[in-house]
Amino acid sequence: MSHSTASVITLNINGEKHTLPVDHRTTLLDALRERLDLTGTKKGCDQGQCGACTVLLDGRRAVSCLQLAVAAEGREVTTIEGIADGDQLHPVQQAFLDLDGYQCGYCTPGQVCSAIAMIEEHAAGWPSAVTADVRPQAEAAPLTAEEIRERMSGNLCRCGAYVSIVRAIAEAARPGVPRPPSPSGELGHLAGSEETEGVA
Ligand code: FES
Ligand code: FES
Repeated sequence: MSHSTASVITLNINGEKHTLPVDHRTTLLDALRERLDLTGTKKGCDQGQCGACTVLLDGRRAVSCLQLAVAAEGREVTTIEGIADGDQLHPVQQAFLDLDGYQCGYCTPGQVCSAIAMIEEHAAGWPSAVTADVRPQAEAAPLTAEEIRERMSGNLCRCGAYVSIVRAIAEAARPGVPRPPSPSGELGHLAGSEETEGVA
């Protein structure tokens, strides 16, 4: 008995549908970069350690090197190419530019995607490992530099641009800085969810 090892799938990426045949072992990262020429998403370690390949899946950050392309069918995939609104940069992108939140830029697409989702996670009341009071009735913890560092710890920067990255994220998250809606809606409905999936 033979089993097919390939399928034709349709991926919804940055609001556009792409239909392509893929080997079932193809990661979402390789489908994006090698099959669809969406090379903004970077490959660093290819084993879930560095965060360079972070994209948004239904608005949540995920490392695309650990996600099979076939498993992304039916989900909203947002890559760095889909973050800006035309010529209008997302506030996180703008803050990275304004505050030199990068050096070589290789980790930057993953940092930006991760930061966008992280700011929403924080706004939705999700605690981190350094949040002092995690009781549901506790006051929301401010997004301090320590909180940013912990929440972004899945995104490594080989240039060591962390000081500027933290500063840029803090600026983008500052109250009063307009935040466009998440590519797939706010995360508030997920607050308290136990769901996890390769979160960067
Ligand atoms: S390439 Fe490093 S986590 Fe995916
Ligand atoms: S800016 Fe070079 S790896 Fe982060």
